This record gives sequence, C-alpha cells and structure tokens, in this order.
Amino acid sequence: MQREKIFITRKIPEAGAEKVREHFDVEVSSLDRNLTRDEILRMTAGAQGMVSMATDTIDRYLIDELVDIRIIANYAVGFNNIEIEYAHERGIVVTNTPGVLTGATADIAMALILCVARRIVEGDRLVRNGEFKGFYPTFFLGVDLENKVLGIYGLGRIGKAVARKAVSFGLRIIYHDLEPFEKESLDFPAQYVSFDDLLRKSDFLSIHALLSEETQHRFTRKEFREMKKGAFLINAARGPLVKEEDLVYALKNSWIAGAGLDVYEFEPKVHPDLITLDNVVLLPHIGSAAIEVREKMSLLVADNLIAFFRGESPPNKVN
Ligand code: DGY
Repeated sequence: MQREKIFITRKIPEAGAEKVREHFDVEVSSLDRNLTRDEILRMTAGAQGMVSMATDTIDRYLIDELVDIRIIANYAVGFNNIEIEYAHERGIVVTNTPGVLTGATADIAMALILCVARRIVEGDRLVRNGEFKGFYPTFFLGVDLENKVLGIYGLGRIGKAVARKAVSFGLRIIYHDLEPFEKESLDFPAQYVSFDDLLRKSDFLSIHALLSEETQHRFTRKEFREMKKGAFLINAARGPLVKEEDLVYALKNSWIAGAGLDVYEFEPKVHPDLITLDNVVLLPHIGSAAIEVREKMSLLVADNLIAFFRGESPPNKVN
C-alpha cells in the first residue's frame, strides 16, 4: 500500500520524527533554517501532510498553492501563523500541540517576573563586569513579590498555570478575559476585572492571550499610559500583541518600570532600543524550549497525523 508523504519544514525531536516515519514517507527540510514561501512550496510538492513551525507563515495565498496538502500539523500551540479558516474552506485540517507546553511556558513567564522584579539579569551583568563592591543595605534594590498584584490578560491554560505558580510566590491574581470564570471552577484565588482595571491595578501584567486580529496591538501607548508607574509588562505569548515601538516609548519615559519579554513584534528582530534598556529582560522565544516538552510536542504532531490519515478526527484539530 502506498504511504502518504509528509514534509517537515524544520528538524523536530527524534521521538516524534521516528513515530511519523513509522507511518509515512517523511522528508525533513535539510536547510535547518526558516524556509521561504517558495521553498515551502517546492519542498511540499507531492506531500499530503505538512508539519509547520510557528515561524512558517501559511497565508491564503500559500494555501491556494498547497494543492495536495490535506493536513497541516503545526509544531506549536499558537496557530496565528496559519489562516485556519481559509485552510478549512480549502478542506485542509490544521492541528496544534496544546497542553504539553503549558507548565514550561508558565515557568518562563514566572522567570521573567522574578528577573524583572529582583533585577536578576542586571545583577549578573554587574558581577561579570567586576562592579560588585560588596553588600550594603541600599544596594541594588528590586521589588518584593509578596502581596503584589499580578494581572493576567487571557486566563487560558497557560494563564491559569501562571496564576497557580504565582500564588505560591505571594502574588494576588486579577485577570481579564472575554468572560469571567465561575470562581468555583478555578483552583486558585483570582478576581475578574475589566481591561481598564487590569491596566490600572496590576504591578505585573502578564500577557497570555491568543494573537488574532482583535488582540493584535492590544497594548499600545494608550494602555501603557494607564498602567502604574511601578508596573512591569511580561509577554511570553506572541509579540504582536504589543506595539513594540510604543513599549519602548513607555519604558524610556518611565511610564512603566520595566518589561520581561520572550517574544517580539517582528521576531526574530528586536527593537534596538530594547537592547539598551537595563530594566528589560529579553529571552529568545523559549517558552516551550525544554527537552521533554519539545519531545512531547513532536509526539503530538505524530499522533495528529496518524489519526487524520486513519480517517479519525485528530486530537488537536483547531479548525
Ligand atoms: C508555541 O507553541 O506556540 C510556542 O510559542 C512555540 O512557537
């Protein structure tokens, strides 16, 4: 029996790649870099399934040309890189990798909160530069997390995991989402607030919403102006939720106290001024970058492909 052909746009962990190979003929891009649109088109020719990365832009124009592709298994929980409704119209199923990266991504948000609050990266730089002259009571003060307010924008899986972890650091949780949750359905104390109150009351404001047309540039100069002067913005979701140029403006004018970022509006480009600011911690999009997690993501990708080509509904179908 002829096996379906699957094209994988970048090397993924071997556990998942091997599972895909057990069921299909697999071709993995040998370029080990992000592919251009033409390369994707050329390399997917003849494939019925494709494994894409969050960095592959799969818009309607590309979808129109992916004539043989029946499923796109995105190696990410976010799927803003794919026009999923258009893919659906064209009969292409799209899947993602939820759940397995929740805790790891929440850890990175917590790490950013701790780093900006206690000036950890800045302190490391100071020591390496030979500028540590010894302890004294007013030296290198940050802010304590105890009893501070963590505002969560988007209380989905990852937002909830951040809340659970944050509670153990003494943070009080407020959140904004499309709708409030029943208090009893949450296993941590949290108060629903309006978006304006989220801006006004948060000492740390952590973004965990999906990127969509509605949420793109949800944080601009106007929102930063509303935030507390001592507040920190944390983003481990998607860069374009924040208008980066406006964030730079707010930071330079001390409208807010700092920011911890794992994602960028024009990734992998980072606004050059962010790099010059000491009150900003910058990570290279590593929310899910733990060996175990990336392996589990690769296995989910395989499970989705296998289920689909067996004629079943893939477990992580998003369209
Ligand atoms: C995700 O899974 O969405 C991560 O951000 C990696 O892209």
